[in-house]
Amino acid sequence: MKILVTGGAGYIGSHTCVELLKAGHEIVIVDNLSNSNKKSLHRVQAITEKKLDFYKVDIRDRKALEQVFEKHDINSVVHFAGLKAVGESVEKPLLYYKNNVGGTIILCEVMNKFDVKDIVFSSSATVYGDPHKVPIKEKFPVHPTNPYGRSKLMIEEILNDLNVSDSEWNAILLRYFNPVGAHESGLIGEDPNDIPNNLMPYISQVAVGKLDKLHVFGKDYPTEDGTGVRDYIHVVDLSLGHLNALDKLQENPGVTVYNLGTGEGYSVLEMISTFEKVSGKSIPYDILDRRSGDIAECYADPSLAKKELNWEAKRGIEDMCKDAWHWQKNNPQGYKI
Ligand code: NAD
Ligand code: UFG
Repeated sequence: MKILVTGGAGYIGSHTCVELLKAGHEIVIVDNLSNSNKKSLHRVQAITEKKLDFYKVDIRDRKALEQVFEKHDINSVVHFAGLKAVGESVEKPLLYYKNNVGGTIILCEVMNKFDVKDIVFSSSATVYGDPHKVPIKEKFPVHPTNPYGRSKLMIEEILNDLNVSDSEWNAILLRYFNPVGAHESGLIGEDPNDIPNNLMPYISQVAVGKLDKLHVFGKDYPTEDGTGVRDYIHVVDLSLGHLNALDKLQENPGVTVYNLGTGEGYSVLEMISTFEKVSGKSIPYDILDRRSGDIAECYADPSLAKKELNWEAKRGIEDMCKDAWHWQKNNPQGYKI
């Protein structure tokens, strides 16, 4: 199959491109490189020894997107392109709605024009907001608490509405939990532009000596050790989930939603101690107040994805920490050198 991957130069996109190529798919990537580096795609080619087509295109640029569809006979779209920083979305909501929602509308219009009606969409566990209980099931109520999360939910609803208007549209909405780790080659990984917002890249940068110490946000949560609990999922497991989703699209499923997580929750302190164990580095940290907007505990019930997509995560937190460290150690400046 020929697959258009939007945002394919980014963290999850580049890992998914590796798996798509390994599975024998042809891929065409569009990315405006606003939060990524073209080098990631050179590395994808180095890992797979396969060719890919890349276009530096913003998905809001209808004309440029149409040219890509004219040139390539696309079967399905895997849609990663979007902005993802929760804090920034609170400061710049219009940017998030314009880029994420506006960009997706243009993408869907172009898909309609070229009669491509199968899409896998990167949604997020953030659409659940603060869940009333864990583990989280897909049918739980959704009430995102920030513009980023609302942009994801709006896109889910747009794709639902498209299917209602035209049953030829199929969309698989994948709600990711906390993607971490890197490809085992150490050639591709997460490369945040500034000081990382997320736990794992922050820990890695402390380990490699780029940052002095970690700030642990809160030790008074109602969890086992008082720190926040999340469902960390290895980015390669997550990427493989997209292949299963593409297979599912062949059954014309309409619109379906799946949690992609491991079903296991780990605390911040457990992540620190596992990282220390696998890297042999010590991670100094201070305990600070809770970070505004954070929740105590969030982990998935991933059984629906197992049942209907025949997918489950296989890699544990030692692999996640080991591979994150391998990437960081080999690429202390990310792709920037
Ligand atoms: P990322 O920033 O590394 O990748 C997103 C890519 O999209 C980047 O390469 C960026 O340059 C590109 N992009 C952004 N806006 C674009 C536009 N208008 N046109 C073309 N390209 C554009 O992020 P990621 O972690 O790989 O996330 C991929 C997707 O998964 C995003 O939609 C994100 O919201 C979603 N997601 C991520 C997480 C996470 O924790 N990483 C969790 C849940 C959901
Ligand atoms: N944490 C720290 N110190 C840090 C960073 C994080 O203690 O420097 C803690 C947080 O308080 C939280 C845990 O580590 O308890 C995980 O935090 P992350 O920032 O790594 O992840 P979040 O769960 O807050 O959010 C992430 C993405 C969101 C996405 C959500 C669910 O950033 O975009 O997972 O998929 F919506």
